[in-house]
Amino acid sequence: MAKFSRFRIAWVTLLLFAFSFGFFLLVAATNTTPVDTSVNAEKGQENSTFSKHKNSAENEKCLQCHGQSKYSYFNKESKRKIIKKMYAELIMNRSVFYESNHREFKCIDCHSEEYLGFPHAGNLRMESQPNCLDCHGEDEKYAKYHFENIEKEFQSSVHSEKHSDDFTCWMCHNAHTYLITARTSENIKQTISYDNAICMNCHSDFSKYQLLTNRQTPNLIKKHDWLPNQKLHFQAVRCIECHTKKINDSTLVGHNILPKKEAVKRCEECHSTNSVLMASLYRYKIKEIRSTQGFFQGILVNDSSVIGANRNFFLNIVSVIIASIVIIGLFIHALFRVIKK
Ligand code: HEC
Ligand code: HEC
Ligand code: HEC
Ligand code: HEC
Ligand code: HEC
Ligand code: HEC
Ligand code: HEC
Repeated sequence: MAKFSRFRIAWVTLLLFAFSFGFFLLVAATNTTPVDTSVNAEKGQENSTFSKHKNSAENEKCLQCHGQSKYSYFNKESKRKIIKKMYAELIMNRSVFYESNHREFKCIDCHSEEYLGFPHAGNLRMESQPNCLDCHGEDEKYAKYHFENIEKEFQSSVHSEKHSDDFTCWMCHNAHTYLITARTSENIKQTISYDNAICMNCHSDFSKYQLLTNRQTPNLIKKHDWLPNQKLHFQAVRCIECHTKKINDSTLVGHNILPKKEAVKRCEECHSTNSVLMASLYRYKIKEIRSTQGFFQGILVNDSSVIGANRNFFLNIVSVIIASIVIIGLFIHALFRVIKK
C-alpha cells in the first residue's frame, strides 16, 4: 500500500512536469510578440505627393518662393523677371510641413493675407502670431493634452522667467515642423532624438541662442562632462528627464525647465528601482502595452532593463540556476521512482 502510493505520487509529479513544460512552451510561443517599431519608418513615404492636401495649391503661392533656395518675381518697374537666392532661414521643407500637426492649414490661416503680395509690406514684420491656446485652449477635442496645465508649467520655466514674452511656445514647437512624437511613437529612441533636437536646435545654434540673450552659449559637452559615457546618455535619455520635474500628473511631457542647479545629477534617480524614467520616458509605453497585453506582460516586455529597474543581473542568474537545479533534481527523482517500479 505504502509502495503503491509512493509510486503514484511519482507518476503524478512526472505528469505535472509534462503539463507545465507544455504550458511553458505555449506561453512562450504566444507571448513573444515583439513591439513593432517599424510603423514610423513608413511615414516618410506617405506624402510623396502633396497635392492630396486640400490647401496645397493655395500654399504653392507662398512655397513657389519659400519652398526652395531660389525665388523669382516680376519686377514691374524694370519689366524683368528677377531671380534671387532665398534666405536660408526662410526656406520651408514641403514634406516636413505636410507631415506636421498643422499640415491641413493654409499659410494664410496663420499669416496675413497681405503676404500674397511681393515685395512684402514692411509692416508685416510686426505681424502678431496666434498663440497655441488661442486655438487649443478649453477645447474638448484637445482636452487630453491639458494645454492649460502645460501653459502653467511653461510660465514657471527658466526660459519664461528670464525672457518672458520673447520666449514663446513656437520657439520649441516650430510652426511648420512640429509633430507630436512622444505620445504616438512606439520607438523610444526616435522620441528621444526628436525631443532632444528641439532643445539642441537652439542650444547648439549660436545665432538662435543669441537672439534671446547676450550670454555666451554654454558648451553643453563640457557642462555635462560629469556624466560618464555622455554620448550614450544623450541618446538614451531626454534633456527634459533631468531638466524638468513633474508638477502634475496630467501632462505627458514636463514643461517646467528648472534652473540648472535643480537639474538631476544623482545617478540613482534613474539607475534604481523607482527610476524617474518610469514616470516620464517609459510611462506611456508601459501604459499602452499594459492595456493591450495585460499588466505583467507590460512590465516584462518594456525596455526597463536598460535602467536596471528591479533587475540585478547577477542575482537573476543565481536564482535561475538554483531554480533549475531544484527542478532537475525533482524530475530525476520522480523518473527513478517510475523506472524502478
Ligand atoms: C515672390 C516670392 C515670395 C512669395 C510669393 C512669398 N514670399 Fe514671403 N518672403 C519672400 C522673401 C524674399 C522674403 C524675405 C525678404 C522680405 O521680407 O521681403 C520673405 C519673407 C517672408 C516672411 C518673413 C518676414 C520676416 O519676419 O522677416 C514671412 C512670414 C513670409 N515671407 C510669408 C509668406 C507667405 C505666408 C506667403 C504666401 C502667402 C509668401 N511669403 C509669399 C519671398 C516671397
Ligand atoms: C499654424 C500656424 C502657421 C502655419 C500654418 C504657417 N505658419 Fe509660417 N509661421 C508661423 C509662426 C508662428 C511663425 C513665427 C515663428 C517664430 O516667431 O518663431 C512663422 C514664421 C514663418 C516664416 C519666417 C521664417 C521662420 O520660419 O521663422 C515664414 C517664411 C513662414 N512662416 C512661411 C510660411 C508658409 C510659406 C506657410 C505655408 C506653407 C506657413 N508659414 C504656414 C505660423 C504658421
Ligand atoms: C490657428 C489655430 C492654431 C494654432 C495657433 C495652433 N494650433 Fe495646433 N492645431 C490646430 C488645429 C485646427 C489642429 C487639428 C488639425 C487637424 O486635425 O488636421 C491642430 C493640431 C494640433 C496637434 C495635434 C492634435 C491631434 O490630436 O492630432 C497638436 C499637438 C497641436 N496642434 C499643438 C499645437 C501647439 C503646441 C501650438 C502652439 C505652438 C499650436 N498647436 C498652435 C489649430 C491651431
Ligand atoms: C523648451 C521647449 C518647449 C517649450 C517652450 C514648449 N514645449 Fe511643448 N513640448 C516640448 C517637447 C520636447 C515636447 C515633446 C514632443 C513630442 O515628443 O511629442 C512637447 C510636447 C508638447 C505637447 C504634446 C504633449 C502630449 O501630450 O503629447 C503639447 C500639447 C505642447 N508641448 C504644448 C506646448 C505649449 C502650449 C507651449 C507653450 C505654453 C509649449 N508646449 C512650449 C518642448 C517645449
Ligand atoms: C543626466 C541628466 C542630464 C541630462 C540628460 C541633460 N542634462 Fe543638462 N544639466 C544637468 C545638470 C545636473 C546640469 C548642471 C551642471 C552644473 O551646474 O554643474 C546641467 C546643465 C545644463 C545647462 C546649463 C549650462 C550652464 O551652465 O549655463 C544647460 C543649458 C543644459 N544642461 C541643457 C541640456 C540639454 C539641451 C540636454 C539634452 C541634450 C541636457 N542638458 C541633458 C543634467 C542633465
Ligand atoms: C529658442 C532657444 C531655446 C530653446 C529651443 C531651448 N532653450 Fe534652454 N535656454 C535658452 C536660452 C537663451 C537660455 C539662457 C537663459 C539666460 O540665462 O538668459 C537657456 C537656458 C537653459 C537652461 C539653463 C537655466 C539656468 O539655470 O541658467 C537650461 C537647463 C535649459 N535652457 C534647458 C533647455 C531644454 C531642456 C530645452 C528643450 C526642452 C531647451 N532649453 C530649449 C534658449 C533655448
Ligand atoms: C536621466 C536618467 C539617468 C541619469 C541621471 C543617469 N543615467 Fe546612466 N544611463 C541612463 C540610461 C537610460 C542609460 C542607457 C542604457 C542603455 O541604453 O543600455 C544609461 C547608461 C549608463 C551607463 C552605460 C551602461 C552601458 O550599458 O554601457 C553607465 C556607465 C551609466 N549610465 C552611469 C551613470 C552614472 C555614473 C550616472 C551619474 C553620474 C548616471 N548614469 C546618471 C539613464 C541615466
